[in-house]
Amino acid sequence: MAIGVPTDGFNKQTVQQSFDVASKHYDQFTSMQRTIGNHLLAFQQEEPSGNVLDIGAGTGYLTRKLREFEHIEKLYALDIALGMLMQTRQNMAGNQLNGTVCADAESLAIKNNCLNAVYSNVALQWCSNLPLVFKEASRVLQKNGMFVFSTFGPRTLQELKASWSVADNAVHVNEFVDMDAIRSLLGSAGFSEIRVSSEEIVMYYPSPKQLMLGLKGMGAHNMNQGRKLGLTGVTAYKAMLRAYEALRTDNGIPATFQAVYVEAKREVRVNDG
Ligand SMILES: C[S@@+](CC[C@H](N)C(=O)[O-])C[C@H]1O[C@@H](n2cnc3c(N)ncnc32)[C@H](O)[C@@H]1O
Repeated sequence: MAIGVPTDGFNKQTVQQSFDVASKHYDQFTSMQRTIGNHLLAFQQEEPSGNVLDIGAGTGYLTRKLREFEHIEKLYALDIALGMLMQTRQNMAGNQLNGTVCADAESLAIKNNCLNAVYSNVALQWCSNLPLVFKEASRVLQKNGMFVFSTFGPRTLQELKASWSVADNAVHVNEFVDMDAIRSLLGSAGFSEIRVSSEEIVMYYPSPKQLMLGLKGMGAHNMNQGRKLGLTGVTAYKAMLRAYEALRTDNGIPATFQAVYVEAKREVRVNDG
């Protein structure tokens, strides 16, 4: 189930038509991912070098940008979806990529202490166990290795959350982890020199339905336990649409994405030697 879309709320034709429109917004979303990736590289203070991994590489936008750093020796792309990795491989012509790994960020299938930097651009927000993701990044990094990533913060989709809150008490939008929690979890996973920053990017959609179909198209599923399913949801869904429509501007209905940028150094541990 995608964020806030009761599947019984549409007939097939409506879904198909709206999805045609949503595909345009998928491109719009891709452009936001790229913007966030560019801002992440501008945010980092240390340039990457040595052996570098990109987690949740998707179709490889950040991976390609990383290839431009001259001191990177070996570059690897990891994604949970094999189809995405195949596209990354296609998009990286020749031998620019040293390897691909199909694995979960929560279980990296990579040996200990072998990387100089781990990157990730707008992928970790879909991981349900962030402490485990950070522990895994720490495990595969050498001492003083860098962990640089972007993710979404809790102000993401605030308009959608507020509109649903008018309709019912169920959880319809993923709860994104805040910056203090990210700092604290990174500290527990063995990182220091943690820098965190954020910015809000507002996108505009023709309607709330098209926003939600766009979210569905990019795999932004609502993973929260409290989500409400079934027929009773239809009335609430209509109430949410009305509340969201009240936020309409000349550009369309607004949807905020809070991009969070993080850079952290893997601490030297006593048993690192
Ligand atoms: C928004 S896309 C990434 C965009 C890409 N990093 C870029 O810069 O263009 C998110 C990616 O994260 C991947 N992903 C989601 N959950 C994951 C997980 N638990 N482990 C690894 N990859 C995951 C998805 O398959 C998808 O390819």
